[in-house]
Amino acid sequence: MLMDIIKARHSIRKYTGEQIRRDDLEKILEAGNFAPNAGGGQRSMMVAIHNKELAAHVGKMNMANFDRSHLAGGFVSKEQPSTIDDPTIKNGFYHAPTVVCVFCQNNFLFKTADAFCMMENMILQATELGIASCIISRGCETFDSEEGRRLMDEWGVPEGYACQGFVILGYIDGEQPKSKPRKPGRIKIIE
Ligand SMILES: Cc1cc2nc3c(=O)[nH]c(=O)nc-3n(C[C@H](O)[C@H](O)[C@H](O)COP(=O)(O)O)c2cc1C
Repeated sequence: MLMDIIKARHSIRKYTGEQIRRDDLEKILEAGNFAPNAGGGQRSMMVAIHNKELAAHVGKMNMANFDRSHLAGGFVSKEQPSTIDDPTIKNGFYHAPTVVCVFCQNNFLFKTADAFCMMENMILQATELGIASCIISRGCETFDSEEGRRLMDEWGVPEGYACQGFVILGYIDGEQPKSKPRKPGRIKIIE
C-alpha cells in the first residue's frame, strides 16, 4: 500500500557502503522521470552517480562552504544525525554509495519545486525497493566552483542549468529510525 511506503520512508544518514543494483537505480530514476512538473515542460534532469568514490567527492563539495551561521537551531535527528547536528561530518552525502543530482533550468520560476517533486518520487520508489535514501539540499553551492563546473560539463548538463538538490541512496547501517510525532493542527478539512 502506498501509505505504508510513505510511512516507512525515513531520511537515512548512516550507510553500509554496499552499492545498490543498477536495475534498482534505473527504477528509481524512472519514478523521478514521471514526477509532476510545472507546465508539463519536463525541464529537470537527473545525473546519477553510481560510484562510491565520486559520490563521496561530490559529497565533500556539498559541505565545502557550509555556512553554519544561518541555522535555525534545534536537532534534526538523534537517531540519524545530520550535518546540522554534527559539525564533524565532512561528507554531505554521509558516504551513501549512490547520489542522484537533480538539475533544472536556472531561469525557470518553478525550478526548485519541479526538482523536489522528482526527488519525492525517487525516495518513495527507493523505499519500496528496500533502499535507504535522503534528500540533500545546497545543490547550487555544491557546483559553484571550477571543479563543479568542470563536472557539470563532463556530465553534459546543458548551459543555463543549476543543481537544485540531491537524492542519496544506499543500504541502512543499523536500525530504522522512528518518525517524529506529527505536530498537531497541520490538517484542516473545510466542508
Ligand atoms: C527541502 C529539503 C531539504 C533537505 N536537506 C537536507 C540536507 O541537506 N541534509 C540532510 O541530512 N537532510 C536533508 N533533508 C531531510 C530532512 O532533514 C528530513 O526530511 C526531516 O528531518 C524529516 O525526517 P524524515 O525525512 O526522516 O521524515 C531535507 C529535506 C527536505 C524536504
